[in-house]
Amino acid sequence: MTVIEDETPLKQEYIPEEIVGKKQEEKFLSENLEHRNLHIHGPRGTGKTHLVRKALDESEARTCYISGLKHRTQYKALQEILSQLTRDEVSSGYHTSELQRKIEEHTEVMDIVVVLDELDFLLLNDGEDLLYFLSRLPNRPKITAITSNAENLQEQLEPRTYSSLQPRRIQFEPYTGEQIYEILADRASKSLAKKSVHRNAVTYIAPSTQNAEIALTWLKTAAKNTENAVTEELVKELRHNAFEAYTAGKLEHLSQHHELLYHAVEDLAEEDEAVNAGEVYQRYQSVASEEDVSVLSDRRISDFLKQLEKLGLINADYHYGGKKGKTREIQLNRL
Ligand SMILES: Nc1ncnc2c1ncn2[C@@H]1O[C@H](COP(=O)(O)OP(=O)(O)O)[C@@H](O)[C@H]1O
Ligand SMILES: [Mg+2]
Repeated sequence: MTVIEDETPLKQEYIPEEIVGKKQEEKFLSENLEHRNLHIHGPRGTGKTHLVRKALDESEARTCYISGLKHRTQYKALQEILSQLTRDEVSSGYHTSELQRKIEEHTEVMDIVVVLDELDFLLLNDGEDLLYFLSRLPNRPKITAITSNAENLQEQLEPRTYSSLQPRRIQFEPYTGEQIYEILADRASKSLAKKSVHRNAVTYIAPSTQNAEIALTWLKTAAKNTENAVTEELVKELRHNAFEAYTAGKLEHLSQHHELLYHAVEDLAEEDEAVNAGEVYQRYQSVASEEDVSVLSDRRISDFLKQLEKLGLINADYHYGGKKGKTREIQLNRL
């Protein structure tokens, strides 16, 4: 027995008809997405991806949606853009400039909207070149960049890139407890058996997080763990499991090394709240060799730590000076 009648509405990629709050943002997107370059910024779980995907579905233009979390370099993103334009797989044999030329050819014959979601991850690599290339195309495809970290693109980009992009910026604010409540109640009514969710359970989750994705994952975790009702007690009990499910969902897009690294921070954080990056490297190395995984260089690992930070899974504070020069103190984010 399960209380879940239809799992689809609880899935991360599900887009409901009714959007809670964010009416203005929805209107702004439907009016602007096809006509100008945009930069959407806001913390995780504020509905950025969700609203943009809905606007893309409703758009008449040819659209490409790229997630920088999945396609983290210019090359991979170009490949994916071309593949979406041609609706065909693109082999890895092309040179970057060939991919660029083929994409340019497509923009000559149709109006294109390109969404670069999770741009923060592309910017850790050579994403700037991608933005420059796209923004300089003669037929000006319309570019929408979405970030959770980079608040101000002008500070992040070289002047020549920023000035050819000139995005209109729109900020997504975190949801209030009431809005999270509404989002949860709506999904519960669509996916769970009647009367299987106690009101107290939802009022417990709603003020605990402003991230709609965490809230939905929590509800789903609870629903999966009961045969009769999602109660406040159950929800409280599963707080940790819910967050674990959320982080696992995020780490899924990255590599095994990210996972090992995250678990290294988790282990160390049990002993001490703030952990030094050096200790994390050591712990990662010993866990990796235990698991027979070839250990990556400190340089790569440092890049991966930055990615975990951009994902909002850890916080890193930089300290300058002292014996070791620059050090990083790492903290685990928790629910
Ligand atoms: N206004 C909303 N109404 C209903 N569901 C929402 C709303 N905003 C976000 N969600 C849901 O919350 C989750 C997180 O939203 P998402 O768009 O992925 O956030 P972001 O891209 O800002 O991190 C998704 O599963 C989405 O369906
Ligand atoms: Mg998103």
